[in-house]
Amino acid sequence: MPRQLHLNLFIHSRGHHEASWRHPDSSPLALTDIRYYQDLAQRAEAALFDSIFFADQLALGGDVAQAARSWLEPVTLLAAIAASTSRIGLIATASTTYTEPFNLARQFASIDHISNGRAAWNIVTSWLATSARNFGGAGQLSHADRYARGEEFMTVVKALWDSWAEDAVFDDRASGQYARADHIRPINHRGDFYQVAGPLNLPRCPQGRPVLVQAGSSDTGRRFAARHADAVFTAHVEKATAREFYADLKALAAAQGRNPEEVLILPGLNAMIGSTEAEAQRMAREVNDLTDPEVGRKRLSNRFGGHDFSHLPLDRPLSPEDFPDPDTVEAARSRTEVILNLVRRDRLTLRQLLGYLAGARGHFVTAGTPEQIADLIEDWFTDGAADGFNIMPPLLPLQLDVFSAEVIPLLQRRGLFRTEYAGATLREHYGLPRPKSAFDEPMLQKA
Ligand SMILES: Cc1cc2nc3c(=O)[nH]c(=O)nc-3n(C[C@H](O)[C@H](O)[C@H](O)COP(=O)(O)O)c2cc1C
Repeated sequence: MPRQLHLNLFIHSRGHHEASWRHPDSSPLALTDIRYYQDLAQRAEAALFDSIFFADQLALGGDVAQAARSWLEPVTLLAAIAASTSRIGLIATASTTYTEPFNLARQFASIDHISNGRAAWNIVTSWLATSARNFGGAGQLSHADRYARGEEFMTVVKALWDSWAEDAVFDDRASGQYARADHIRPINHRGDFYQVAGPLNLPRCPQGRPVLVQAGSSDTGRRFAARHADAVFTAHVEKATAREFYADLKALAAAQGRNPEEVLILPGLNAMIGSTEAEAQRMAREVNDLTDPEVGRKRLSNRFGGHDFSHLPLDRPLSPEDFPDPDTVEAARSRTEVILNLVRRDRLTLRQLLGYLAGARGHFVTAGTPEQIADLIEDWFTDGAADGFNIMPPLLPLQLDVFSAEVIPLLQRRGLFRTEYAGATLREHYGLPRPKSAFDEPMLQKA
């Protein structure tokens, strides 16, 4: 079989466009209504997507007066969706900076059991400066410190997930033996940030470990992904930088002794799809007309760690000097570079920049016919820029349905995308091997 594309649906608000929530064609359901999310997951499953994904921030955005989000806590959300779907993978975001590894390992192992092997964790170090104020008030850790802590966090959670052998649960009513206690062992971790005795208080999960997703794009973030990620989300506004990222990350993974094919790279794609190019562009304009540049200005400030952009006029071309140096930004450094590249390349005004970012916050935004979108996907996929895509429909569920009904069949006809689920777990959809447990090593094989 030729190499297969992987598609993830990124569920956000009533669509990824900043004004989607107020568009007449987006869902009428409340953003706290579980039926909205269950329905989207079922639609994505019917269309054979590999997975769905929820992002998360640990603070209320300053733009709440005019911005709607997917409010529900993502791990809780996955539990409810797991019970109303059967095949699609389920990815939730959780933070290494503001969570204890024991809690997190237990939650994701639980979701993996509840979903019969479909759980994945999007590992974030939490770039948003305001999150720090909700956790102890000591101020935001630096970018480097967040990643250093994240690294130790990974050692701990992996050890916890591996602390039960595959065969630790005996569950033998006749003999009265529930578990083989010698097939469960403590981890006794003592590090710079964490002291965790273990073992986990939950049997090994169906996938061995949940699938690990990561989206760091800075040098440190990429090295982190190369060590730990099974799938990598990334934001690019052009194919050239996506190709550079793809080549770099695959090389970093190989340098870690990993098989680069087992690190899937999924750039974001926000496509407004119409039956003609003119119609798609009209729809894109229509939703753009609903945006408020002042909301965009606040979001831009958040992206740059709270930098004040209030003095910048909306209609003068921007220059890089209007922005702080990305190296000094302690938030999401790579996205600030994406924004600066866009400013350098296109000499945009602030209004135009905010218009572009309104589409998908710095991901690739386009409008076109189903054929044009399928061509773009095939081009990036075959030209070393992607192993699949993080699909970010501007309006939900409308543009998900159009993508599923019009673009996916084209990809299937071209032999690029599955026509049925071959496996049951997310690891199987992604074509990833099942990790061995520490107990597969000689000590217990003897027992
Ligand atoms: C598709 C995508 C989704 C992301 N979701 C989240 C999220 O939910 N929460 C978060 O704090 N950061 C999120 N991020 C940000 C990344 O985790 C990371 O902080 C960012 O890409 C900057 O990487 P860097 O710190 O290595 O520069 C996301 C990034 C991408 C590309």
